[in-house]
Amino acid sequence: MTDPRAPLIEVRNLRKVFGQTVAVDNVSFDIYPAEILALVGESGSGKTTVGRMISGLEDKSGGSVSLRAATDAASMERLPDRYRKQDFRRYGQRIQMIFQDPLSSLNPFFNAGEVISEALRFAGQKPTLEAQLHWLKEAGLQPDHLHRLPHELSGGQRQRLCIARALCMRPEVIVSDESVSALDVSVQAQILALLLRLQDTHDLTLIFITHDLNVVRQIASRVLVMKRGQIVESGPADQVFDAPRHEYTRALLAACPIPQVD
Ligand SMILES: Nc1ncnc2c1ncn2[C@@H]1O[C@H](COP(=O)(O)OP(=O)(O)OP(=O)(O)O)[C@@H](O)[C@H]1O
Ligand SMILES: [Mg+2]
Repeated sequence: MTDPRAPLIEVRNLRKVFGQTVAVDNVSFDIYPAEILALVGESGSGKTTVGRMISGLEDKSGGSVSLRAATDAASMERLPDRYRKQDFRRYGQRIQMIFQDPLSSLNPFFNAGEVISEALRFAGQKPTLEAQLHWLKEAGLQPDHLHRLPHELSGGQRQRLCIARALCMRPEVIVSDESVSALDVSVQAQILALLLRLQDTHDLTLIFITHDLNVVRQIASRVLVMKRGQIVESGPADQVFDAPRHEYTRALLAACPIPQVD
């Protein structure tokens, strides 16, 4: 049995410098199995850069991201900075990222079935028609979406396709970077509900990057608040919302209107 309280991911002294800009400045935190961790903060505070480094999509300027070995709770595997293709395949499969703009991460010439097939092949699985339909359905898409190109799907359906593509690789962690921010409120609620259901049924760990504190309040168990590349506050969501300790967190909360609940 793996200890559920042992971190799944250890982030230590993570740093990213783009030219003169220190985008991420010595950030350390743990991520626990099957938790929903929100990463919030103003635009430019470094949230996306942290998410991309955790996912292995961005090289680190310093520090480390260690993912607990799949078979042994005691050992952590570290993503090598110059990873071999084989390492990246294994690590890349375990942590999937979904983005705000699904169109930019989907090949415009691949239909939904082909998107899933490619991902299944990447994960070393057979891209059967049955598997394609299964994963589309899992994300709430219909069999007649199979032959649709990205531009023939609605924004919400495109995000579902990205979720299906991530999910079919059987990840342990999904990093969602503003994945519902561009959708209108009713579609946003549907996609959020889908993510929560999948998190629960697949025991997923969800890292939820957003500037929308109302969404965070609805779903997150723990919150990290970033400002200018650093974590200025962290804690259980209730605590951060009801008794923020940092001035910056209070300012973020004040800037975010709380919807009236009847
Ligand atoms: N590829 C890049 N090249 C140069 N600078 C970059 C690059 N990516 C990010 N930055 C800079 O790094 C800093 C952090 O950017 P990042 O995208 O991580 O912020 P963010 O918190 O995700 O913001 P937003 O809420 O607007 O998405 C910003 O100053 C940004 O301009
Ligand atoms: Mg961002």
